[in-house]
Amino acid sequence: MSHTPVRLLTIETTCDETAAAVVTDRLEVLSSVVASQEKLHEAYQGVVPEIAARAHMERILPVLEEALRQADLTWSEIDAVAVAHTPGLIGSLLVGLTAAKTIALVLGKPLIGINHLHAHIYACRMAAGIDVFPCVGLVVSGGHTHLYDCRSATDFRLLGGTIDDAAGEAFDKVASMLGLPFPGGPAISKLAAEGDPNAYRFPRAFLRDRDRIAFSFSGLKTAVRYAITGPGNKDVHAVALTRQEKADLAASFQEAVVDCLVAKAALALETAGRKRLCVGGGVAANPLLRKRLNEMTEEASIDLHIAPPHWCTDNAVMGAIAVEHYRAGAFSPLSLDVVSGLVRSTPER
Ligand code: KG4
Ligand code: ZN
Repeated sequence: MSHTPVRLLTIETTCDETAAAVVTDRLEVLSSVVASQEKLHEAYQGVVPEIAARAHMERILPVLEEALRQADLTWSEIDAVAVAHTPGLIGSLLVGLTAAKTIALVLGKPLIGINHLHAHIYACRMAAGIDVFPCVGLVVSGGHTHLYDCRSATDFRLLGGTIDDAAGEAFDKVASMLGLPFPGGPAISKLAAEGDPNAYRFPRAFLRDRDRIAFSFSGLKTAVRYAITGPGNKDVHAVALTRQEKADLAASFQEAVVDCLVAKAALALETAGRKRLCVGGGVAANPLLRKRLNEMTEEASIDLHIAPPHWCTDNAVMGAIAVEHYRAGAFSPLSLDVVSGLVRSTPER
């Protein structure tokens, strides 16, 4: 017997995208709205938390209303409201959580708190249209670089992650050193296509360390800085580089990051004994990473799912992971709080 689908409103405000979507318990996407703040943070070459929080406040209601309008629904036709309450920038998270709690309270509907990083992996489930669990999950975003053993959609065990900068953060900071626009990931991957990946031999932390599922991109970032300025404390922005030099630096840097991500993803698959890899987060849009992951998994007979580029960066469709919580009856109390966790900082100058 067919039933009327359950409709979940999902809210995403962890960093610098204000997003809302309506999804059903059949995982149909009825609407998806993303208001990006890139333009507001461009001048600072990084996300400024206070600006992000204020922008979320201005945008959250129009974004929610647009998500309902696109889905052709009224507020009372929503069955539950889900929100990413961790991790992220504290002021940004608070805007989404407060909106979600208010809607849940006023409508008398259940609230579901979700983990933004788990949601990035769930983007693969949404794109695949079939179950992807259990799997190893690699989240590569501006704030995080984590490998999980995803036993089910609601049981994620952290295998390891970065001990300092996230992969996306390294992309953004190196882009800033090269005078490229923010966010740096897309700009670096574009420029890298014209460069020689072997022009510079940059460090690959823990690459051959088979006992350690971990990343470190801080030393790599410093190595790029010294490759530009030479030793000492010279201002990296004061050095004039040719386009070819920039392209070689971008390509060599990108190569080092991708080498580490692919090697540790392979180690995580072995360690967890999984035959499927799911990859999400903004950096998963990187063409070289996608190519190398394809090669690695093909060789090892691993089933690979990478979120499509438009679902790699922050969006609310991936918040459909809340459907799994809904099915399990795992609702959150109205006392649910934000948990900031690791946050992305603006680049040092
Ligand atoms: O997942 P996301 O939208 O936001 C966070 O949760 O942080 O990821 C944003 C990050 C930025 O650091 C951006 O530079 C990076 O993803 N990114 C890329 C590419 N596209 C976006 N990094 C490398 N290559 C790309 N093509
Ligand atoms: Zn994200």
